[in-house]
Amino acid sequence: MIDPANEILKQLQKQQKTEAVDQNISDLFVADPDRFDRYSARCGSILFDYSKNNISDDQLDLLLDLADAADLNGKRAALFNGQHVNVTEDRAVQHMALRNLSDEPILIDGRDVRSDIEGVRSRMSDFAEGVRAGTIVGQGGPFTDVVNIGIGGSDLGPVMVTAALAPYHDGPRVHFVSNVDGADIRQVLARVPAHTTLFIIASKTFTTQETMTNATTARDWFVEQCGEAAIADHFVALSTALDKTQAFGIRDDRAFGFWDWVGGRYSVWSAIGLSVMLAVGSENFTSFLSGAGMVDGHFQTAPVRENIPVLMALIGIFHRNVCGYDTHAVLPYDQHLHRFAAYLQQLDMESNGKRIGLDGEAVAHDTGPIVWGEPGTNGQHAFYQLIHQGTSIIPADFLIAARANNPVGDHHEKLVANALAQTEALMLGKSLKRVTADLQASGMEQERMEALAAHKVFPGNRPTNTFLYPMLTPHVLGQLIALYEHKVFVQGAIWNINSFDQWGVELGKELAGELLPMVRGDVAVGDRNGSTSGLVSAFHAMRDQ
Ligand code: F6P
Repeated sequence: MIDPANEILKQLQKQQKTEAVDQNISDLFVADPDRFDRYSARCGSILFDYSKNNISDDQLDLLLDLADAADLNGKRAALFNGQHVNVTEDRAVQHMALRNLSDEPILIDGRDVRSDIEGVRSRMSDFAEGVRAGTIVGQGGPFTDVVNIGIGGSDLGPVMVTAALAPYHDGPRVHFVSNVDGADIRQVLARVPAHTTLFIIASKTFTTQETMTNATTARDWFVEQCGEAAIADHFVALSTALDKTQAFGIRDDRAFGFWDWVGGRYSVWSAIGLSVMLAVGSENFTSFLSGAGMVDGHFQTAPVRENIPVLMALIGIFHRNVCGYDTHAVLPYDQHLHRFAAYLQQLDMESNGKRIGLDGEAVAHDTGPIVWGEPGTNGQHAFYQLIHQGTSIIPADFLIAARANNPVGDHHEKLVANALAQTEALMLGKSLKRVTADLQASGMEQERMEALAAHKVFPGNRPTNTFLYPMLTPHVLGQLIALYEHKVFVQGAIWNINSFDQWGVELGKELAGELLPMVRGDVAVGDRNGSTSGLVSAFHAMRDQ
């Protein structure tokens, strides 16, 4: 953190241990009947309620000062102006350009890239609509199935978005293969007909081991049934490395490019979104882009007290750096968002899981939290026990749609009541006095009551945010993702780290490359560390039994 920001953080930390030590969320509501209005913000149709956090006006003011002191405004301008904010890879970061649907020029490295972006998008749309209409066909006629092969950002975005937009599917069935574990591709290939299946090889670099292994397996399987010549009609590539897609046998008009200024975890807006477009159509895809584009505008222009990504980020920083909370839960009460937390794990943890600052020194504060979550109400019957009564405090985001896409009876009202009940219970808790009164009213004998009461106490004062949106449409989904993207950016800016590289994934890749010949048994393990050598030997012994 740069110096003036560090001073403000220290002030916040000191205040937390002194003036704010007995503060609690319920009292903040008692003291301020307008707290809900003052601690909620809107972006388009999305309402962000952050009133159920243990943050006072003074603390929020200091957090806003912290953003200023960290030069958030300057850093945001640098991001949107196309400066090389990804310093370790010397790249601009411009995924926002992909959802900028205005007519203005988009300058990156001195070039207007608008026509490049629109060119790929219009080729994608012609292709997707041709497949959907059955005018672009495979060997066996119109495509019935699409298999997207990719991993990380070339998988999680498309997987999460197609799941979220399931009610909008009117195209071919879409399947995803990511894991190098052969079980993944095997089970997908077992349920698709080769003659009417389109394979999408999605890889920014076109070198990722998992993707290239799965792509080769898929190609071999396909060629066995349909012959080599049919590859041209059944394989598509999404990549920045168009020379490599050719070498794989993919024809140029079936390769959809993007650029190094689109990071993998920010690439669902690019050609990487082709599987989404095939599933829901190009109109819905454009609406998805425009939702995100709207948030880009909001993030750049809304005053800080109304700026949702800024508020999300500052609340997260308060929890991480002032309160010392390690994790952040994302709990969508929206079954279609069942992969949202997995998606956000890459977005947040690959971006802000860093320990070296932009000055090249180890940072003196915590950075990205562990992000996790599952949809409600399922989580309630699994891990909410810990959220309510465990020893760790877990800030959580709740996401609720006002209307279900496919209403059934009163399911949706029950779902919403559960979400609201959880955030209320987390805030208010249940005191020993209330527990005792309830037990007394139930007629329980004194001795049993005394033994049980403490177990039934809920400490409360546990922080949550709630997002409320009309319905999970493509536009709203685009908004939600972009809100989280910019939250991650703001936190990285304040922590003074590079949110756009991912060197932490490299060592494992390098060692896997070294170990592969040893695992195969082609090369002796030699004098690696005792555990790895022991495991390789034990693996050989078990495998060869
Ligand atoms: O594992 C790291 C990573 O580089 C991610 O950032 C990326 O999304 C993923 O691998 C896949 O990379 P590619 O699209 O180049 O195959």
